[in-house]
Amino acid sequence: MKHVLVLNGPNLGRLGRRQPEIYGTTTHDQLGELCRQWGEEIGLVVELRQTNHEGEMLDWLNEAADDATPVVLNAAAWTHYSWAVFDACAQLVAPLVEVHISDPSQRPEEFRHTSVVTPYAARVIAGQGIDGYRQALESIAALTAQD
Ligand code: DQA
Repeated sequence: MKHVLVLNGPNLGRLGRRQPEIYGTTTHDQLGELCRQWGEEIGLVVELRQTNHEGEMLDWLNEAADDATPVVLNAAAWTHYSWAVFDACAQLVAPLVEVHISDPSQRPEEFRHTSVVTPYAARVIAGQGIDGYRQALESIAALTAQD
């Protein structure tokens, strides 16, 4: 079974309580359980992590680079300005899929309209709600099918 890291950035630990009209009512713990189930159905061992600390996210991305682990990344607000996340994504060797629960490109704030992750992403899934994570895991399974 292939190990996949699902990495969530700042404020996503508050899923379910944070702006439910935008991000829905599923909590982060429930998302973890769903990701594990979705992964299991398609032969993936999914580990979901969340941090509000950029350095911790960078450590996890560096670990994924060293171990050639595929990554599903929702870098949340860092998506839009973190050159450190950009540099960390550049090192990844296994497939990277970018996920956003909302569709940042359709939101009114101009700052959300660019992503430092997209240049390194095999696929970008945005605006699909929590189901976007399931779609991302399916993409990882398809992208790593030959490995
Ligand atoms: C987000 C979109 C980002 O613009 C925002 O900063 C987030 C969450 C999403 O999942 O829709 O925190 O990545």
